[in-house]
Amino acid sequence: MERQTIVILDLGGPNNQIIARRVRECNVYCELLPFDADIQTIKNFDPAGIIIAGSVNDRQITLDKSIFELQVPVLGIGQGQLLIVRTLGGKASVQDSKYQKAQITVDSTHSLFEGASINFEGWVNQSAKVDTLPLDFCSLASIKQNKNAAIANDKLKVYGVLFHPEYNNTQDSIKILKNFLFNICKVSPNWTMSFYARNYIKSLREKIGDKKVLCALSGGVDSSVCAVLVQKAIGDNLVCIFVDHGLLRKNEADEVEKYFKDQQGINFLRVNAQDRFLNRLKGIRDPEKKRKIIGEEFIRVFEEQAQKIGEIDYLAQGTIYPDVLESANVKSHHNVGGLPKNIKFKGIIEPLRSLFKDEVRQLGLTLGMPERLVFRQPFPGPGLAVRIIGEVTKQKLDILREADAIFREEISLVGLDKNINQYFAVLTDMRSVGVRDEERTYENILALRAVTTTDFMSAKWAKIPHSVLERVSSRIVNEIKAINRVVYDITDKPPATIEWE
Ligand code: XMP
Repeated sequence: MERQTIVILDLGGPNNQIIARRVRECNVYCELLPFDADIQTIKNFDPAGIIIAGSVNDRQITLDKSIFELQVPVLGIGQGQLLIVRTLGGKASVQDSKYQKAQITVDSTHSLFEGASINFEGWVNQSAKVDTLPLDFCSLASIKQNKNAAIANDKLKVYGVLFHPEYNNTQDSIKILKNFLFNICKVSPNWTMSFYARNYIKSLREKIGDKKVLCALSGGVDSSVCAVLVQKAIGDNLVCIFVDHGLLRKNEADEVEKYFKDQQGINFLRVNAQDRFLNRLKGIRDPEKKRKIIGEEFIRVFEEQAQKIGEIDYLAQGTIYPDVLESANVKSHHNVGGLPKNIKFKGIIEPLRSLFKDEVRQLGLTLGMPERLVFRQPFPGPGLAVRIIGEVTKQKLDILREADAIFREEISLVGLDKNINQYFAVLTDMRSVGVRDEERTYENILALRAVTTTDFMSAKWAKIPHSVLERVSSRIVNEIKAINRVVYDITDKPPATIEWE
């Protein structure tokens, strides 16, 4: 098969995954590597093309020149272009990282701009300057104060654009990216999730044969898609363990069980460990302690079950690509579950390791999973324990589960579940005075939290219509006696976090 992988050399910056996602959206497989990855690592991917993107402020870094001797097309985007210019002997500089929209005029006769408008608007770092082009390069575009807004050396197949086609997802910017991929790198748009599923299932069958695989199922999107994919490859040699720690939402454990038991041939083991978790959480108020206890207990339950099953060869995990990319700086509490230490496996299987979240969802749909499971909102590993401020008790869990279910039901009834990325109820540890049936009450205060976000690193509080909030609040205080006041959290992240603990 022709070379099909695009390697993206990442210069850093907060938007480093956007270009990779845009390439994948063109149905082309790509891998993100640090810009100073050694040349052998790059070669190992046998790339069909290289994109250099991201934002460095003039750190006087240069690229390894041998990148340009691999005889594969290279495209530098934004500061990637500046680095190409500098590495190949031209002069370029950048002062700050302020981006603005600018009018760009391009040479539409060149294959990089084929089919794009001659003039279009793009995001540009206004302080970026290309003073001298390297030998044998020509200019393909200009911006008001910059005549080298795109550059090319067709013989070397090295290109650069000073603007960011990945930021404004317009027809023109997608066209430019597609031209590079399809006209210049000559890859085919065959990276689809059904292609991926077919190949993965075939290769996993070859790799695993009739060996046994264990999977820890949380019921979340990633572990569910992982389990279904592995099951399609090896059938009942996959055993899924679902630890019900009692900190799930209303009916969630039963729904997960029902879905997986209904799936033909899934070996599904539900462990009812609710009491164990509650006992260990007794008297614990500190959020980090709660997380640690839940993580440890989870592994203990998992290990005990695995030992009962007997010899297991592989462990399957739903690690996804952003987890891999961010593993260096991910908060430890986001890895609840971790890896069991007392069970020896021949290896770990991570079928989603190269996929972004939207690809995982697409894969789930391709595998025939229902939308309600595939488009689930994220739910933290420690579950409702971090949505009950202070000590977790069975009674508080029951109150919170009911209130949360009402909130979620009302949100999806008005179709807001498609626009709000995460929404849930929090049981505070405060009580307030109220009146019910002309009697004074002294009951719990419940908070509602709803946010819109793309990456969950920052988030905006969701502007839910007052009429919806009113209905949610009135249902909650009417249907749940233990709550007499409902408040709505109107704080962005930062400075707040999405969860309250
Ligand atoms: P924060 O509260 O840090 O949450 O703004 C960002 C995203 O991470 C989820 N989250 C967790 N997920 N274990 C998890 O698996 C955790 O301990 C945890 N804490 C927060 C949170 O739900 C949100 O989606």
